[in-house]
Amino acid sequence: MRKYWPIGLAVVLASLALLAGLHSSADEVEAWTMASRYTARIGFPFFIIAYVASSLVKIRPSKLTSNFLRERKYFGLAFATTHTFHLYALLTFLAVSPEEVPLVGLLPGFAVYALIYAMALTSNRWGYRTLGRKWKWLHTTGMHVVWLAFALAYASRIGDPDEATAGLALFSIAVIALLIRIAAWRVGHSRRHA
Ligand code: HEM
Repeated sequence: MRKYWPIGLAVVLASLALLAGLHSSADEVEAWTMASRYTARIGFPFFIIAYVASSLVKIRPSKLTSNFLRERKYFGLAFATTHTFHLYALLTFLAVSPEEVPLVGLLPGFAVYALIYAMALTSNRWGYRTLGRKWKWLHTTGMHVVWLAFALAYASRIGDPDEATAGLALFSIAVIALLIRIAAWRVGHSRRHA
């Protein structure tokens, strides 16, 4: 039961993020925008830990990095949990917003959601056995697609004077995480060819 702690933490933090967003403004649309923003932001650390866990062990094996690797699956499920709060916030935002968002503009975001839930549902022995070699493809591709969704969202904030600092800081974390993955891939590659 103890291994589920990241999911419990995710429920608590995402609930607080949702409440913080809803209390941030008296305007309904603005409040749900902020609830969407905070619920996405609170999930980012859970995602980053799941994204770099196996790479960190390859580069710097230690008790801490091995713990992250052992619990990687639960950090991934914790991210799917916080992003379910994001889904609730963004669907409510879309419902209350006076601006019509064209369906075609929403499709990439919902496709990423399909990947997130496909990964969450197959993060078990049944998924591994059923998907066989496709399991690795789904989980590797899915993680990089989610990385791209975060990186693009934060990069797009760098040009906005009100959001530039947060955008740059969070985008830099995404880039560092990618560099860690590349460094680990190179370590694995040179070990295989040694
Ligand atoms: C159709 C699906 C989606 C819709 C309609 C949507 C909607 C929103 C809205 C309304 C915001 C707040 C905008 C603001 O801060 O001004 C937001 C923020 C954000 N969303 Fe989503 N979202 C979707 C899917 C996703 C997915 C799949 C991801 C990542 C895997 C994601 C990541 C983010 C990020 C990183 C932010 C910015 C958070 C921050 O400022 O720290 N969203 N989204």
